[in-house]
Amino acid sequence: MDLISGYKELIESAFTKLSFSYSDSLIQKQVDYVLTLGGKRLRPAITLMCNEYYGGSTEVAMPAALALEIFHNFTLVHDDIMDEAPIRRGKECAHIRYGIPKAILTGDYMMILSYKLLEEYAPEKSLLLIKSFNKMAMELCEGQQMDMEFEDRDQVEILDYLQMIEKKTAVLLAACLQMGGICADAPAKDLHHLYEFGKNIGIAFQIQDDVLDTFGDEKTGKQKGGDIIQNKKTYLYLKALEVSGRADKEILSQWYQSQPENPTDKINEVIHIFDKYNIREYCNQLKEAYSDLANSHVEQLSLDRTAKDKMRAFGEYLVRRNY
Ligand code: IPE
Ligand code: IPE
Ligand code: MG
Ligand code: MG
Ligand code: MG
Repeated sequence: MDLISGYKELIESAFTKLSFSYSDSLIQKQVDYVLTLGGKRLRPAITLMCNEYYGGSTEVAMPAALALEIFHNFTLVHDDIMDEAPIRRGKECAHIRYGIPKAILTGDYMMILSYKLLEEYAPEKSLLLIKSFNKMAMELCEGQQMDMEFEDRDQVEILDYLQMIEKKTAVLLAACLQMGGICADAPAKDLHHLYEFGKNIGIAFQIQDDVLDTFGDEKTGKQKGGDIIQNKKTYLYLKALEVSGRADKEILSQWYQSQPENPTDKINEVIHIFDKYNIREYCNQLKEAYSDLANSHVEQLSLDRTAKDKMRAFGEYLVRRNY
């Protein structure tokens, strides 16, 4: 996407410099494996973008942007263990390559590295950044806990799902925007609207992630149908349960209580039901609703029209992406 390609280049080159700056050890190689797997770099890009629109210097915002991307990558390493995922960004997951114990440690190291990057700020700014960061990090863990608990729970409401994705995914995007604003000394009122924009667009982003898990192609770089295999209570599943006929409801809930060795039939039958009830259309409607909400916060920002339109375009991309 044109809007972020410039930021992406800056981020990649900052990562290259960073990788020479911490200890030269085996664990560093493991961290580098994860950080050079690719990835869209959406989170640091939006931090830099937001910082720029408020007149901040890229040099000042870069450590925070890197901290957020490293933290995100740490959560992915641990998430892939939790979700028993084999591939990430088209390559084998860290826990497949190094084993679960070393992947856990690699993730821990990345989390600490992300905090270390925030050491670079003057005390007053550092405190604001760390407060935003810590709130996000604790909520993200709560969201991940809910995500796993729902796998084994029969009764999950759509509202539970929305709360879960807000925590596991949306608050990180919210913090990326807010921390970009903090780096540039944006007004407090704007920090609030930046956060709300990020949160609502983040909810739509996770709905799209769930759609792509089932309906995406190899560009996602993930195992297709992973959420179905793991009995994840996504909006696709919960909406299908709500709108399907009695027989299909029964089939769905039976499949979601099982974990067959060969999941092909399970995946195909579940997708067949999702298609039969046009579940993707419900997902589109929900994404639209959250995008609209997100955009209403963009309109409250004290930025000019061009900057607001770019924010909106970024949000649009997050929600409509196909990988
Ligand atoms: C994946 O995020 C994890 C989610 C919260 C959905 P991305 O789709 O941004 O993953 P990368 O960083 O580009 O690989
Ligand atoms: C990811 O949710 C949320 C976090 C990593 C915190 P998913 O489990 O859906 O992400 P992917 O699909 O594996 O990237
Ligand atoms: Mg996962
Ligand atoms: Mg997960
Ligand atoms: Mg997913």
